[in-house]
Amino acid sequence: MHIEPSGAACGARVSGIDLSVALEDADISAIRSAWLEHKVLAFADQQMDDDALERFTLAMGGFGEDPFFDPIDGHEHIAAIKREADETSTLFAENWHSDWSFLRKPPSGTCLMAVEIPPIGGDTLFSDQVAAFAALPDKRKDELRAMTAVHSASRGYAPDGLYGDNDKGRSMSIRPGEAALARQSHPLVKLHPETGEEALFCSISYTVGIEGMDDMDAFQLIIELHQWCEQDRFVYRHKWQPGMLVIWDNRSVNHKATGGYEGHRRELHRSTIAAV
Ligand SMILES: [Fe+2]
Repeated sequence: MHIEPSGAACGARVSGIDLSVALEDADISAIRSAWLEHKVLAFADQQMDDDALERFTLAMGGFGEDPFFDPIDGHEHIAAIKREADETSTLFAENWHSDWSFLRKPPSGTCLMAVEIPPIGGDTLFSDQVAAFAALPDKRKDELRAMTAVHSASRGYAPDGLYGDNDKGRSMSIRPGEAALARQSHPLVKLHPETGEEALFCSISYTVGIEGMDDMDAFQLIIELHQWCEQDRFVYRHKWQPGMLVIWDNRSVNHKATGGYEGHRRELHRSTIAAV
């Protein structure tokens, strides 16, 4: 197995391993350590199918919860992230987030397997939330360490949310509902359970408040952190290729989708890795 760092704050490309077959424990352990180190791994030139994606996800730690989506037929732990060539709905997941951070135990990671990749556009951006926190002044770090953030899926998946009842013409099987109104607190600076590193656990998609702070001040803080984390020095821009599997660590990176592939179909299959 060969690991080539992206040269950006996070991300690495992995070659020399075949993920279409069951892996030895030693391979999984090597992949897990590279994943914790680089936060985002891209495996190029794979021949995986949905069975292989499920097998790999199980080996990486088991299936995580995946709310608000209908799974694909025959694979209850896989969701299709897709957009038809002529689709005019808003781009899905275009705002920074960590997957399902509004759950009590958000998934450790997410696996995204290329099914159909357009010839242009559709890059996924990742921001290194550990590096972004580390670069803050010491005084600011202490202030943030004392804060507790409130997360919710309401902006996206509530009946009146972005993907709610008024979202028409979307090909993806999103299932909004009242459950999205639930709120879940997490430390604003979260200790990574496997590396011990501190990461900013906050996003404009799912962080809806700060405990003990009025809404306007909390909103300003969330915007300030959003702008800090999306600086180029913390961001890895991932370019997709057919046959690629990408896995990322939701505890140490935020991510967002980008467009730029109008007129082309795009489909990827997603699974999530359970919390440890
Ligand atoms: Fe996501």
